[in-house]
Amino acid sequence: MTDNKLAIIVLAAGQGTRMKSRLPKVLHPISGRPLVGHVLTTASRLGAERIEVVVRHERDRVVAVLSEHYPDAVVVDQDEIPGTGRAVQIAVDALPDDFSGDVLVLSGDVPLLEVDTLQALLEAHRGASAAATVLSALLDDPTGYGRVIRDASGTVSRIVEQKDATAAEAAVAEINAGVYVFRASALRTFLAKVDQNNAQGEMYLTDVIGLLREAQETVAAEIAVDTAATFGVNDRVQLAEAGRVLNARIVRRWQREGVTIVDPATTWIDDDAKLAPDVTILPNTIISGATVVESGATIGPDTSLLDCEVGTDAVIRRTDATLAVIGAGATVGPFAYLRPGTVLGANGKIGTFVETKNSQIGEGSKVPHLSYIGDTTIGERVNLGAGAITANYDDLVKHRTEIGDEVHTGSHNVFVAPVRIGDGAKTGAGAVVRKASPLVPWP
Ligand code: UD1
Ligand code: CA
Repeated sequence: MTDNKLAIIVLAAGQGTRMKSRLPKVLHPISGRPLVGHVLTTASRLGAERIEVVVRHERDRVVAVLSEHYPDAVVVDQDEIPGTGRAVQIAVDALPDDFSGDVLVLSGDVPLLEVDTLQALLEAHRGASAAATVLSALLDDPTGYGRVIRDASGTVSRIVEQKDATAAEAAVAEINAGVYVFRASALRTFLAKVDQNNAQGEMYLTDVIGLLREAQETVAAEIAVDTAATFGVNDRVQLAEAGRVLNARIVRRWQREGVTIVDPATTWIDDDAKLAPDVTILPNTIISGATVVESGATIGPDTSLLDCEVGTDAVIRRTDATLAVIGAGATVGPFAYLRPGTVLGANGKIGTFVETKNSQIGEGSKVPHLSYIGDTTIGERVNLGAGAITANYDDLVKHRTEIGDEVHTGSHNVFVAPVRIGDGAKTGAGAVVRKASPLVPWP
């Protein structure tokens, strides 16, 4: 008997040998999220009562990411017996004993699947009362995938891995996406019959399909409409290709939300970034992490923003910024470097060849040319002359510079911190300002 309850098993225990990487394959990121994270994000939208992730290779690193970002996923450890069949067997054993619903198996290295495709798979499975339903796809180049072999009547009879395939089988264009729904009871029973007699000496999950058919159980394959969705990542060529496809989707989504993206091919936007309508993105721009951009802002060309907040109508050109807040109507660049903790007030300016760090620059204040501003608080309506440098480091510790409102400084000034400059002060060209005001204790 089957009820409509759903458990999801995500396979993430493999080494990913073909990546030739120290980082486990499923942790390689695309669009700012690890491969397995994309799979889990999709999985979490299906209303499953339990999601299990099978780990083994570099398990502590994988588990660290899972517990930080997907704390509801249940971690299951695979033992030394290799193969997708063993991974699923161990995960099924970890389900509650009375679980009798459907088990959806997803691969941690198939990141482009969308909820719609999986819902169609579940519906097909339930509609046919099948013991197993495989997600398949028809590919021009099926190299590397398992092939779905059908009998003369067109019914799925088994899946054969590329390494075990005859030439005729290898010529089949229908591939196994590595995504399946099984009736839990059938999965339990038939996994117990899977052996390791194959080219790779592994327990193949795919063997369950042939075994079910031999036992006259109903097995179906649902051919994915969107073949890109079934794309599996085994090496870095495929990693880049999956990243490109996902980015194209994200770009299109924002364009439909009212964002002008001049060159989709050179614009990279992470999945977590948020853009308001009437933002304009110019070529060669990378918007990463949890960056948020408000309406009317123009970003680029040649700009990277990581975890930044950009206010309404701000203009940012040829800039590299991390963890910076840029106020409404402010301008940044060209050629600016904003390091963490930079907060630029509304209508402020950080200009050309300017580096900032851990500094607040008040409303309407300008640092227009050739400057380093670190550990500094600048008031409102200030103008720093070209070549302003805050000397914030005395070889032991960092000190703060405080500049009041409406201060105007000459060109080529050095502010030797700790130092405070009062409201309305003016300095001449070439000044070295090193006397601390009595308000700041001299070290
Ligand atoms: C698998 C399928 C193949 C299918 C392809 C789709 C098998 C035997 N083959 O091949 O038919 O076309 O996916 O992308 O299932 N994993 C574990 N434990 C293991 C081995 C692998 O959890 O012992 C995980 C991996 O981390 C990965 C997934 O299972 O996320 C698939 O493993 P992989 O080695 O990439 O299988 P493929 O050769 O791609
Ligand atoms: Ca794979």
